[in-house]
Amino acid sequence: KRHLISAGDLTKDDALLILDTAEELASVSERSIKKLPTLRGRTVVNLFFEDSTRTRISFEAAAKRLSADVINFSAKGSSVSKGESLKDTALTLEAMGADAVVIRHGASGAPHRLANWVHGSVVNAGDGTHEHPTQALLDAFSMRRRLGALEGRKITIVGDVLHSRVARSNVLLLGTLGADVTLVAPPTLLPVSVGTWPCEVSYDLDAVLPKSDVVMMLRVQKERMNAAYFPSEREYSRRYGLDRDRFAKMPDDAIVMHPGPMNRGMEIAAEVADSARSTIVEQVANGVTIRMAVLYLLLGGETT
Ligand code: CP
Repeated sequence: KRHLISAGDLTKDDALLILDTAEELASVSERSIKKLPTLRGRTVVNLFFEDSTRTRISFEAAAKRLSADVINFSAKGSSVSKGESLKDTALTLEAMGADAVVIRHGASGAPHRLANWVHGSVVNAGDGTHEHPTQALLDAFSMRRRLGALEGRKITIVGDVLHSRVARSNVLLLGTLGADVTLVAPPTLLPVSVGTWPCEVSYDLDAVLPKSDVVMMLRVQKERMNAAYFPSEREYSRRYGLDRDRFAKMPDDAIVMHPGPMNRGMEIAAEVADSARSTIVEQVANGVTIRMAVLYLLLGGETT
């Protein structure tokens, strides 16, 4: 494949190839080999129209560890503020020789449109409320490293599903990998299309926790909470937050995940986020490895 736009575009073999490639790259890094020559002479453009800490920095680190040249573009401070379109911005960057464009954009579908305009590979780093496929890949990689194969594993994803591109990409990818996914959310924070998603839905977090191998908490996206009805923070936290008492209901070997950034004390208690069974910091480190694997397979290795 030339692009990575949706987790739904990946077959099980594609997904396993990315996870296995990441495993090989992790073992190279563990042997203290920090930099590989694989993408020398290739250029990766990070095109970010929305804020990011983890995704932007990890794509930059991943490209640099593969010896690619990296151009970081942030819409803030660019000619986007003078009204330049996505297409003209993309064509300008392509004229500078981009082999891959990593794009984060507030509009769902922006990476798909971009793929029609540029010759290089397009990687979706989060588009609106639609998808965030490399987050789902790093989440699956983190789960597999802790728990082994994902077939039949019970994964519970909790919170603001309505606005979560992370939830959608995870449901698609984890389903492809054979895991059983349950979404838990207030009815007002579920998309109307959720009935067509390959997962179960529950409104009772306390009933689902004891049966979960993984509990993934989602950030409440206050900045996107325009039309959706949202209970008070206190009420949300009481019904859907992962506090110490709820954490105790999980099986002893179950893990807690969060894509970040977190609202500590709201969807997740600080002591749960910082516990030994939380993979939140590992997820960030694994994000670099997964993004190395994606760039390697799109630009430098065998095609998926
Ligand atoms: N998880 C995630 O996408 O984080 P950033 O918004 O900081 O990139």
